[in-house]
Amino acid sequence: MGSTNSAKVADAALGSPANPCAMVIFGAAGDLTKRLLIPAVYNLVTGKLLPEQFAVVGVSIEPFSTEEFRRQATKDIHEFATGGVDDAVWDSFVKRFYYVSGDFQDPVLYKTLGDTLAQVEKEQGTQGNCLFYLATSPVFFSVVAEQLAAAELTRQEGPKWKRVVIEKPFGHDLASAEALNHALGQVLEEKQIYRIDHYLGKETVQNLLAFRFANGIFEPVWNRRYVDHVQVTVAEELGVELRGGYYETAGALRDMVPNHIFQLITLSAMEPPISFDADAVHDEQTKILRAIQPISPERVLDQAVRGQYGEGAIGGKRVPAYRSEPHVAADSQTPTYVAMALHIDNWRWAGVPFYLRTGKRMSERITQVVIQFRRPPLVLFRNTPVDKITPNQLVINIQPNEGISLSFEAKIPGPVVRLGAVNMDFQYSDYFGTTPSTGYETLLYDCMLGDPTLFQRADMVEAGWAVVQPILDVWKALPSRDFPNYAAGTWGPQQADELLRRDGREWRDPTLAAGPRHPTGTGA
Ligand code: BG6
Repeated sequence: MGSTNSAKVADAALGSPANPCAMVIFGAAGDLTKRLLIPAVYNLVTGKLLPEQFAVVGVSIEPFSTEEFRRQATKDIHEFATGGVDDAVWDSFVKRFYYVSGDFQDPVLYKTLGDTLAQVEKEQGTQGNCLFYLATSPVFFSVVAEQLAAAELTRQEGPKWKRVVIEKPFGHDLASAEALNHALGQVLEEKQIYRIDHYLGKETVQNLLAFRFANGIFEPVWNRRYVDHVQVTVAEELGVELRGGYYETAGALRDMVPNHIFQLITLSAMEPPISFDADAVHDEQTKILRAIQPISPERVLDQAVRGQYGEGAIGGKRVPAYRSEPHVAADSQTPTYVAMALHIDNWRWAGVPFYLRTGKRMSERITQVVIQFRRPPLVLFRNTPVDKITPNQLVINIQPNEGISLSFEAKIPGPVVRLGAVNMDFQYSDYFGTTPSTGYETLLYDCMLGDPTLFQRADMVEAGWAVVQPILDVWKALPSRDFPNYAAGTWGPQQADELLRRDGREWRDPTLAAGPRHPTGTGA
């Protein structure tokens, strides 16, 4: 199938190289840099999306020399590249790597960095353009931005641009997100700030926009008249690994909901923007977040479910309870699972619940959005063996099996009227093959082009935190009494099933690769 179908899309424009620039990575010795950022930049190089006039400047407290940094990066790329490494390409690329060591709070570091950037501009022709990537602990976000500004490294003159990418987490609640926005706003223009959410780097997430707005057949039914409810599932098989220290202060709600899951919800629910300009898209996303009915404190325990995994088995292997993971308190109250029902109070969605759930150590790694349409009346089939009609479901699989499937009822052949749910399936890999990527390529490329559409604007981030803040407050005031309340390797606590059951609904089994196939009539 691949060759015919891919032929149809083979003429897709691949894009031209980004602007010359230096990419300065704060936190250059960290995990994010070696696992994702450098492999992503390398993929841009091999994809011919970076100009020759490009350089990487690593910054961290580690006392490396430039030579040592290049050697380490060479070792790491062989471990973390998403495809093979072409040594000739890499060797010429790594010669454009530089390193500056120092304390992020020390003005001397920024003086040295300024000197290095001047040298890089001269040697590599980066034309004074600079992308500062803050792959650091969040405590340094505003410190680094302030110091960069104080050293005049973020000053934009003429065509020379300076942009600052801020990693996640952006604040740990509404007040801290507001404070961080305020601090950044003191030293940078909003247009210089690129708040990253790596979910927006996923092709399937970006495809939500293409799917909804490049096809005429879905928009007319994409509303409360035809849609019964929406489910968003972000299930992870992994536990907290070695991130217990961070995760203890975050938990599933902060870690996944106001950022990743709200991207999925806003892109699924927003009105068509008037263009794909960043502001037009962000305006519509923000309107959705603001239209979510605030959850009153009294309703939090009803509308939101929290969970924490106990020990269990995944893929036949025993795994420990969250409370036994490294750097996790033995009586930890941190949720590793959250489910909730949200209501978007606008003309398109009033009365259509959006159920979301996310958790660690679930049976499988699956992210999907399910649009469940209204059930048709059964009256036509009254005098037949059909006693139930399965509602149509549109399933958008974000990962790992990227694709879209639509289930509908069909007559099972035979003299007796029986119905069976069947599927129309689209798999990304059938049409477009698979290009291994880290998910950061598009985001970095867009930042170099100055396109912030796939980044978050200040007001979006705050609107997201405003939705979850009441839940954070109530959960903090009323610790859970039943943690751990789900076994690793399951689909989460029973209360999450109850959340839907009392509305007469149920979670779709996310492992059904392509909708239910059981007959819904009797007799044969
Ligand atoms: C990160 C969270 O932002 O996203 C992690 O901090 C989580 O806890 C990860 O595992 C999930 O990302 P992905 O791309 O694997 O779905």
